[in-house]
Amino acid sequence: MIKTNLTHTVVNVPIDAYRQDVRVVNDMIKNRTGAGSDFLGWSTWPKDYDKEEFKRIKKAAKEIRDNYEVLVVVGIGGSYLGARCAIEALNGLFAKNKVEIIYMGNTLSSNYIYQVLEYLKDKKFAINVISKSGTTTEPAVSFRLLKALLISKVGEEAANKAIYATTDKEKGALRQEANEKGYESFVIPNNIGGRFSVLTAVGLLPIAVAGCDIDAMMKGAYDAMELYDNPEIEQNECYKYAVARHYLHKSEGKAVEMYVTYDPNYTNFCEWLKQLYGESEGKDGKALLPSAVTFSTDLHSLGQFIQEGTPLMFETVIFVKKAAYDVKVEHDEANLDGLNYLEGKDVSYINSKAMEGTLTAHVVDGKIPNIYIEVARMDEYHLGALFFFFEKACAMSAYLLGVNPFNQPGVEIYKKRMFQLLGKPGY
Ligand code: PA5
Repeated sequence: MIKTNLTHTVVNVPIDAYRQDVRVVNDMIKNRTGAGSDFLGWSTWPKDYDKEEFKRIKKAAKEIRDNYEVLVVVGIGGSYLGARCAIEALNGLFAKNKVEIIYMGNTLSSNYIYQVLEYLKDKKFAINVISKSGTTTEPAVSFRLLKALLISKVGEEAANKAIYATTDKEKGALRQEANEKGYESFVIPNNIGGRFSVLTAVGLLPIAVAGCDIDAMMKGAYDAMELYDNPEIEQNECYKYAVARHYLHKSEGKAVEMYVTYDPNYTNFCEWLKQLYGESEGKDGKALLPSAVTFSTDLHSLGQFIQEGTPLMFETVIFVKKAAYDVKVEHDEANLDGLNYLEGKDVSYINSKAMEGTLTAHVVDGKIPNIYIEVARMDEYHLGALFFFFEKACAMSAYLLGVNPFNQPGVEIYKKRMFQLLGKPGY
């Protein structure tokens, strides 16, 4: 369902040389013996997930769709990126006849927060507050303000019904509040870290509210789980990707992996990838910098640098073969723009030629290695599979690099510095 093509990598990636290491790491993941193995819950989640909670997620999603105009998803990092990237990838950026989804708690910009609160004043809205710890500053600030607005509009009882909390099963400030106020609540499993949590209630509730088929998404993830369990690198597209990025970094000296998509609907999918790989691998002074561009848009900004600038990077192209929607170029009598040679052609066809032309320009002319990953179409099934593909490849890649993929010690340091400046008690 997902193909990894390594014929555009400029240098030959010696897959064979990795055979034994891949088997060893595959066993580490499977037997949960590597560093951070307490957080490998995601690796079997497509079969282990809580089926009773899954039904409650679908029920809550229907309630929200039936009763509200807007769902405000409050969360940051792993607590919101998965939902956002899925909803945009599946529904696009201008979806009609859907509950509007707005994201808060992912910034401390007073401009953004003020404008969202103003926008919501005359909207009927529900809140899905998502935080494992319940104390992350960004979502906590937004949730406090949103809650006050909601209570001022509908009163406390109705507000409590409109708030859906996704948090730890037992501990933390948000769990306590949810229990006390009687919010409908969902669980972020103990053994799944934020950036690996998209297929838990963290992602699934907002995705279901957006009208997407979460059964199909879990089925895609399940099939990917089965497929990418294979320890033999030649037969495992997911591990081929992990090994290729490792080789290009360690042996070819590339410092940057540039994710490339050809659709603005997938821009946030790359944001999700940036967090997944950046937070999982960027430690102990190691790792590729994950970066992203959306082509052909960014060919008109960063294209020049990629083609001829400092050769820091390789590209990982994620190309979806079949567009969900298409439009044809129409005939124009005057033909002043000279486009009549494309008359009757689908825009998706033009986009695919832009991709092929760019691949050749970057690889043949620019000598920029490209890993090419192709997906048949973007639907719930394939997206579920893609999530699993990149999570599994991330674990393989991080263990090959020799880092614990599942901690993020560096994230705490800015918080400590900020709390000291803000005068938070205890800092
Ligand atoms: O992936 C991660 O662990 C982080 O991005 C967290 O999800 C993020 O910091 C939010 O944390 P919390 O869910 O505790 O509010």
